[in-house]
Amino acid sequence: MQIARIMQILNVAELAAIEAAKWNGRGDKVAADQAATEAMRAAFNDIDFSGRIVIGEGERDEAPMLYIGEELGRGGEEIDIAVDPLEGTNLCAYNRPNALTTIAVAPRGALLFAPDTYMDKIAAGPALKAAGTLSIDNSPADNVRAVAEVLGKPVNEVNVCILLRDRHKALIQAVRNAGARVRLIDDGDVFGAIATAVPGTGIDLYLGSGGSPEGVLAATGLKAIGGFFQGRFDFGSDEKAAEKRARAEKMVEGTEVDLDGILEQDVLVRSDDAAFIACGVTDGEMVEGVHTDEGGTITTHAIVMNAGDKTVRFVKNIRRGESGVVRF
Ligand code: FBP
Repeated sequence: MQIARIMQILNVAELAAIEAAKWNGRGDKVAADQAATEAMRAAFNDIDFSGRIVIGEGERDEAPMLYIGEELGRGGEEIDIAVDPLEGTNLCAYNRPNALTTIAVAPRGALLFAPDTYMDKIAAGPALKAAGTLSIDNSPADNVRAVAEVLGKPVNEVNVCILLRDRHKALIQAVRNAGARVRLIDDGDVFGAIATAVPGTGIDLYLGSGGSPEGVLAATGLKAIGGFFQGRFDFGSDEKAAEKRARAEKMVEGTEVDLDGILEQDVLVRSDDAAFIACGVTDGEMVEGVHTDEGGTITTHAIVMNAGDKTVRFVKNIRRGESGVVRF
């Protein structure tokens, strides 16, 4: 994607982060999410493009804005957009690390319309992608060994990020039994997956199930920079499973998606020209959050993964406060 366009989308993520961060630690995840969503929508509508939401806050009847199918912008280049305006609503509400505003963009038709169901995920950085030894079908122990081998470290120094959920009890045990360390996160598996490709986060591998929309967002970033991602839908086995599957069937109609098969990166993101942007809301290992000083200067920190020019940018942006002075 062209750099000028990327800068416009980055601005959207930053403005949403600034609004969401006003709710950091205030215990109200709904208000925080709404603030991010409203800011995102207003900023998208100011761009000279024809944006279409393919992953958003839900379907038209359940979401007042940024609903799937919503058209945004002042007209122009046709772009598909996946958003999680505030990824980790509880992280923001309780001022925990790694709440992010997240956006993926790609040419029209390139991003999978992901149903609102769980997705099993495995993610890792570019070295593992190049080695080709990871698979969602392998045991956790095999995947941990593959990571150790490729990264050239002992198994007991491999760090695996997993969402702290009851459904992951056996997985967590299996990873520990394999000798690796587990980094448990309360929320935010877009961060968990993307962090595997970002040195300094201390995360080598992401395993476990989380939201499918979050899966497409993470897959876009990892694809943009040559990282590894595979997913598989998990419709569960409760009374809602059949309904979820039927909705998913409708959403992937006309594509080659196998609802029970491995979802490879090229199925989730059918373009080599996609980009992923995340802006920090709370401080985290990958990017810092929004900082405001007494003069009103606002500093944001974002990561931009752009397949178009094969770059990863860490963007620190300082907005002048009311005093008109930029404080570095
Ligand atoms: P929200 O931002 O909507 O609160 O979601 C956070 C999140 O942790 C995602 O990162 C993850 O994919 C999903 O929730 C996991 O869902 P669940 O909480 O049902 O396990």
